[in-house]
Amino acid sequence: MAKWVVREGNVFWPSEEMKKVANISNSDVYEEADKNPVSFWEEKARELKWFKEWEKPYEENLPYFKWFIGGKINMSYNCLDVHLKDKGDKPAIIWEPEPPHGEARIITYNELYKEVNKFSNVLKKLGVKKGDRVGIYLPMIPEVQMAMLACARIGAIHTVVFSAFSPDSLRHRLNDSGAKILITSDGYYRRGKEITLKDKADEGIKDTGIEKVIVVRRTGSNVNMADGRDFYLDELMKDAEEYCEPEKMESNDTLFLLYTSGTTGKPKGVIHDTGGYAVQAYLTTKWIFDLKDDDIFWCTADIGWVTGHTYSCYGPLLCGGTMLVYEGSPDYPDPGVWWKLIEKHKVTIFYTSPTAIRMFERTGESWMKKYDLSSLRLLGSVGEPIGEEAWMWYFENVGGGRCPIVDTWWQTETGGILISSLPGIGPIIPTFAGKSFPGVRMAVVDESGNELGDEKPGYLVQKSPFAPGMLRGVYGNPEKYKKTYWEKYKTMYDTSDGAYIKNGLIKIEGRTDDVMKVAGHRLSTAELEDTITLHENVVECAVVPRPDEIKGEAPVAFVILRGKEREGLKEDIIKLVERKISPIAKPAEIYFVDDLPKTRSGKIMRRILRNLISGKELGDITTLVNPESVEKIKEKLKL
Ligand code: WT7
Repeated sequence: MAKWVVREGNVFWPSEEMKKVANISNSDVYEEADKNPVSFWEEKARELKWFKEWEKPYEENLPYFKWFIGGKINMSYNCLDVHLKDKGDKPAIIWEPEPPHGEARIITYNELYKEVNKFSNVLKKLGVKKGDRVGIYLPMIPEVQMAMLACARIGAIHTVVFSAFSPDSLRHRLNDSGAKILITSDGYYRRGKEITLKDKADEGIKDTGIEKVIVVRRTGSNVNMADGRDFYLDELMKDAEEYCEPEKMESNDTLFLLYTSGTTGKPKGVIHDTGGYAVQAYLTTKWIFDLKDDDIFWCTADIGWVTGHTYSCYGPLLCGGTMLVYEGSPDYPDPGVWWKLIEKHKVTIFYTSPTAIRMFERTGESWMKKYDLSSLRLLGSVGEPIGEEAWMWYFENVGGGRCPIVDTWWQTETGGILISSLPGIGPIIPTFAGKSFPGVRMAVVDESGNELGDEKPGYLVQKSPFAPGMLRGVYGNPEKYKKTYWEKYKTMYDTSDGAYIKNGLIKIEGRTDDVMKVAGHRLSTAELEDTITLHENVVECAVVPRPDEIKGEAPVAFVILRGKEREGLKEDIIKLVERKISPIAKPAEIYFVDDLPKTRSGKIMRRILRNLISGKELGDITTLVNPESVEKIKEKLKL
């Protein structure tokens, strides 16, 4: 069996075989790209099909910048039309339902093209125009990729809302984006249960501008269909025209909005453009995942997250690849289901989260030993730091000690991967994400923006020219865009992550702001606090992350009550969070306290709470107005 990686102590290098076949194996690429990142990206952009080439490759007027100015391109055209001649009969999507609800579907490029064209015409007929926002609230069924591509084809801006989000979360996103159309489904299957998504959608569109709802039939169950407002997709598709001319988009036109949590307030709509994002999605898939014609690529991320957008949809399709899409969860009907699918479809490239890996580590190797995983040649990790133990476990048990692991760092805001090792070049060192991708300039700086030397921990930033896949703003809120990403360093993009560099490789240490990463999902402490204080018995509350063996972090709430503690109150608060945000945001623990540590200006010192529950040094508490609160909380925690 081919070995794709060789080990030298704690360092992993591509094998000779890997170097021979890899899409990129010449390490000069880093230096070459860094000499002139703009011409590097220009050259790569030419691998896509442009209706008209750009007049100017890059322009910066901070905090804004543009790529490929004047260039005309269409995302759906580059994902579909360009492949028809050579790859029409090649599977684009292999879809697997959660068992036992249905059969696998194999959708070729020809078929996907046909469906997307019709879907585009359906949207047009319902009045959707270039620049309009379209909400997509769908589970992992192929119609979700079709819906995104159909929007992209006609220049409509999609905003996908994770299907496990609550109606309230959906409402906020629809109102903020001003969407008039929502695409959803009757329901879906999750861990053996039928989830009636349409009911949640009906609730979520109340008090929004949604005028029409397109319903994909997945379960076939009877759902409420409002006359004149709700339409089944299959019925609309019956009379749809077979061809839809792709809209010629200016490269900097918006492709999609994706809402993500920040330090304060409600989730914000991150704006991604068309051309720059496409180039970044394309090249990172080609070089980091080394995606080739005969590969079967599986990114396990849900489409509701940016990882799903870039690597369960656009990246693989831009490369003309084949991807697996799975409806279900990793542990149902048993923890063997993913490995069974890898064996069945001979998956070659597998991309998942450290949380999933730690979960499987806990359930034990026996589940994967039942299946033949020898088709795998490359593994990836994303979303949170992967510790050495989980890395080695993944390497040995999933990769059979043969496959390189690419630890990919990026954010909703960056659109595509910015830091990773390249599997044909190396080196790969467990727990280090790797180097900046060619043409990208990440750096570690101190508070004042001075670059730090080797092994000095600081703040991770990006230097000009900013990568083509980067966000171009926050929808309807330019102030927030400026404040969040550009206020601190002005001429550098602030990632809000801590990091250090050793031997040229970047080690990510985690968020430095009030954003948590729970099972790789991004949650804001502020949003949880705002939700918990909605409860009539809650006066004030502080939420902080606590280290968690499986999920990386878990939210813990410190709550000051109005009146006395009563039975069932904790459960009520947890239910409130579940209903208002999503089950993924549920606090792992709630402590009722009399007081919270505060500064003179009344700001809650979350750092102290965070250190308290993770057993770390408390640090300076002299700025507190109420240092005695710390002792009292310690008692509560029985420390
Ligand atoms: C935050 C962004 C981008 C895909 C999914 C997450 C953390 C991301 C890594 C990694 C350590 C990572 C950072 C980042 N993160 N990848 N390989 N190693 N940490 O997107 O929800 O926008 O979260 O995820 O803290 O800022 P996101």
